[in-house]
Amino acid sequence: MFANSRPVTSSQSGPHPRLAELVQRHLRHAFRRPVGEPSRRAFDTLAAMLAGDTRPRVLDAGCGTGVSTVQLARRHADAVVIGVDKSAQRLAVGLRALAAADAPANAWLLRCDLVDFWTLAAAAGWRFAAQYLLYPNPWPKPEHVQRRWPAHPVLPALLACGGSLELRTNWAIYAEEWSVALGLAGRSWQVDGLDEPAEAALSPFEAKYRASAHPLWRVRAAAETQSCRG
Ligand SMILES: C[S@@+](CC[C@H](N)C(=O)[O-])C[C@H]1O[C@@H](n2cnc3c(N)ncnc32)[C@H](O)[C@@H]1O
Repeated sequence: MFANSRPVTSSQSGPHPRLAELVQRHLRHAFRRPVGEPSRRAFDTLAAMLAGDTRPRVLDAGCGTGVSTVQLARRHADAVVIGVDKSAQRLAVGLRALAAADAPANAWLLRCDLVDFWTLAAAAGWRFAAQYLLYPNPWPKPEHVQRRWPAHPVLPALLACGGSLELRTNWAIYAEEWSVALGLAGRSWQVDGLDEPAEAALSPFEAKYRASAHPLWRVRAAAETQSCRG
């Protein structure tokens, strides 16, 4: 365990000045980036495996090595918990863990770009019971603001996929930016600190940041009432 992780630094001292304009523009205009063929194949395979499965679906977006996917699968024992990440290397670690005899059978891992995944899932009418975004890359340089999920054009698709949202980060400004984006999208939200956690770390990055004494933030939005499955 590394306990020397550096806190996020940025020339931003608050939410990006263009954040509201970007979110509003993305909420108004459909995102038209074509989906990559590998992502489409991965999504179609998952959709075929889930066809007829009536369990609720939970997404662990950017699951890395899948440690959180396993923990979430235990927490949501009645659901299929799908960990999605684009890193084959990290997922390979997770797949080895899922092969263990005591691994929960309701934890699944998928290699896919999340931009494509949310686009395809929204188009297919998927509705998650819950979506977790644990320590996404914060992209702290102001010029990279649109790489952050709240300012990314995929945000409407992410929100259309529904469910409760839980974002965890070690950058307070990123938590603020999520709050701004959720507010502009008409969602209510709450932010709290995870500085005196009652539970074990949910993911490797959470463990690393805790060991490095970073303040941690959680933004949660309750699910909207609509619910259906693809
Ligand atoms: C900082 S790590 C956090 C990993 C894990 N959630 C944790 O808390 O330990 C961010 C993860 O997001 C993944 N990621 C970043 N952008 C992605 C994208 N566009 N599609 C899929 N995965 C992505 C990376 O591969 C990486 O595993």
